[in-house]
Amino acid sequence: MIPTEDQSADEVGADLVVVTCSVNGESARVSVPPHRTLMDALRNELGLTGTKTCCAEGECGACTVIVDGATVNSCLMLAAEAEGCDILTVEGLGAGEPGGLCDLQESFLEAGAVQCGFCIPGQVMAAEYLLRTNPDPSVDEIREGMSGNLCRCAGYQRIVAAVELTARKRATR
Ligand code: FES
Ligand code: FES
Repeated sequence: MIPTEDQSADEVGADLVVVTCSVNGESARVSVPPHRTLMDALRNELGLTGTKTCCAEGECGACTVIVDGATVNSCLMLAAEAEGCDILTVEGLGAGEPGGLCDLQESFLEAGAVQCGFCIPGQVMAAEYLLRTNPDPSVDEIREGMSGNLCRCAGYQRIVAAVELTARKRATR
């Protein structure tokens, strides 16, 4: 068998693992090699390319998703480990919202926190988890909560402002 673009030669013919889980509220079932990361399965098997690939070693946060209510660097989790899990990706945040963006994503735009945009899906997922677990964070708590997410454009002040803005919006709902 000739490898496809997304397959390394050693994957071809390898035993596949069938994984059934929930992704953004919908049931998903994929067949993947045992060593396929969740990050690659989301992007390649499910077409959810909002989850970014960057360092692939747990250092940058670009691949952050929420699994069973907690943030995960999806480059460090095997897809096979997601069996039965409830996964939220950036595509699921604004699903059903007018314009397709949730309040947090709107706040990133309003605060001017998006420069090249590459880190933003991971930043948004980390911020969503932070606000779910601490709805009224201090600036220091935001910086601490977002410390695993790097921005090469160094837009950190505006990212913090976007999280503060979202917290204020949610407090008045
Ligand atoms: S790509 Fe996963 S932490 Fe950098
Ligand atoms: S906006 Fe460019 S890396 Fe963060």
